[in-house]
Amino acid sequence: NRKKRVLGIETSCDDTGAAVVDDDGNILGEALHSQIRNHLETGGIIPPIARDLHKEHIDRVVTLALERANLQLQDVDAIATTVKPGLPLSLMVGLDYARTLVKQSGLPFIPIHHMEAHALTARMIEPLEFPFLVLLLSGGHCLLALARDVDDFVLIGKNIDDAPGDAFDKTARRLRLKDIAGFEAVSGGQAIEQLAKGGNPRAFDCTPIMSRHSDCNFSFAGIKTQLATVITKEEQRQNVQDGGVLPNMADICASFQYQVLRHLAKRLQRGLLFCDLKKLLPSRNRTLVLSGGVASNQFLRDGLERMCAHYDCRLVAPPPPLCTDNGIMIAWNGIEKLKRGIGFANPEGMRVEHR
Ligand code: KG4
Ligand code: ZN
Repeated sequence: NRKKRVLGIETSCDDTGAAVVDDDGNILGEALHSQIRNHLETGGIIPPIARDLHKEHIDRVVTLALERANLQLQDVDAIATTVKPGLPLSLMVGLDYARTLVKQSGLPFIPIHHMEAHALTARMIEPLEFPFLVLLLSGGHCLLALARDVDDFVLIGKNIDDAPGDAFDKTARRLRLKDIAGFEAVSGGQAIEQLAKGGNPRAFDCTPIMSRHSDCNFSFAGIKTQLATVITKEEQRQNVQDGGVLPNMADICASFQYQVLRHLAKRLQRGLLFCDLKKLLPSRNRTLVLSGGVASNQFLRDGLERMCAHYDCRLVAPPPPLCTDNGIMIAWNGIEKLKRGIGFANPEGMRVEHR
């Protein structure tokens, strides 16, 4: 009567991830290959290149995760794999690979929704009952949802333009952060967070975003463009030439990050009021789970935690390596479904989905 174990495989974007997790949430083995360095060189993800890199690394990554767990494929109880949403070419690599493993082993297959996996990772770390709110902030999405059960999510709000991670990345690129000598950051978001530490968050203001929208949606394009205008003005004022670096870069990074926090907090406030109004959440002792790559930002975490406290809401955010894309969250989602006996499917003929 041993513990159940699931092998999880993730290839939805630019990380090839695999992990084996058991039903107590122990991570038995994990491996991850990030393509970020390749994509930094090309200035963004080029789907066929991402696909080729997944193909190149997937076998090694999955084998390594099993090796680290000291397990053979036959020792796991199911194979869980992201099938949506994501880049179709990237998703196909994971699904094709899983299909081969399923054929070889006869193991059950569990297709996984990438965003649901992000949302439920917190339950692997600590006891957390449904329902709870989830705010997912990544390079491709901004989603505010109510998690009612393992397979029951209600969408409350989403981004109407750029995703927050995208706004971070574009602002970092506009500031040419990767050209700063001696400065190492693995993503635009991380670069901005680090530089912002030395800056004044109120140095540059923005006009409020979506203040007249009576919904819980988000918009980050306006913050990005307003800060881009600030950057252009500052470059002219300080006579910084093409390829040069602004001396007050830290103030710009801090201001951008502060505006993102302000917008997130405002929309989240609306979301909490909406849940109260519709009685979707208990009015006390409630929880907001924060996840996705952008949720590894400590400034945003701290700010949102303070805001939540005013609403008798506890903020739970997985540690940064579990916020960014990884195989562990996929394996854990597989465990959650396996425990309930839900979600099994035949990978033959299955399709991947962009959305
Ligand atoms: O969830 P994720 O790993 O991949 C998907 O988009 O699915 O998120 C990646 C995004 C990138 O846009 C990256 O710049 C952003 O998360 N990011 C951050 C930080 N670390 C990563 N943004 C803000 N602050 C950070 N510390
Ligand atoms: Zn993600």
